[in-house]
Amino acid sequence: MAESLAFSKTADRKIVYAEIAPQIESLVAGETDLVANLANVTAVLKEAFGFFWVGFYLKKEGQLVLSAFQGPLACTRIDFGRGVCGHAYQTRATVIVPDVDAFPGHIACSSSARSEIVVPIFDRTGEVFGVLDVDSDRPGDFSETDAAGLEKIVKIIEGII
Ligand code: SME
Repeated sequence: MAESLAFSKTADRKIVYAEIAPQIESLVAGETDLVANLANVTAVLKEAFGFFWVGFYLKKEGQLVLSAFQGPLACTRIDFGRGVCGHAYQTRATVIVPDVDAFPGHIACSSSARSEIVVPIFDRTGEVFGVLDVDSDRPGDFSETDAAGLEKIVKIIEGII
């Protein structure tokens, strides 16, 4: 397994998403352990984009429970429908929040987070399995480019769950 990551040093995230997706694909193809794979996906996203916080919350015991992540300490359990993660879980759709202070019910795990994107992950039966959550310390940091790029990465994860 390749343990180094190669990507262009460019501010054009579309290019970087296109470069890292096949590397994530081969990274997870060689490993069957889910948490090991999710952990490496967060490491790749953190390294490629320098995001403030990148992590997964997975559906367990009727809540979203913190799984692999990179970044500061985070809240461990989120109720369905609560916060941006719970909203993405309930609506089954990607949520982009340009200003977390303007999102009703946003859960502030860190006061440094300014904007956020959450992408739902579906299992083979079409149920939401969990979410991929990315936080930025800059306002308005996420666009449709991130939604498309992260959804492509989530598709890879959906292939291994
Ligand atoms: N802000 C999220 C909670 C998780 S942290 O950002 C790591 C939310 O409102 O769901």
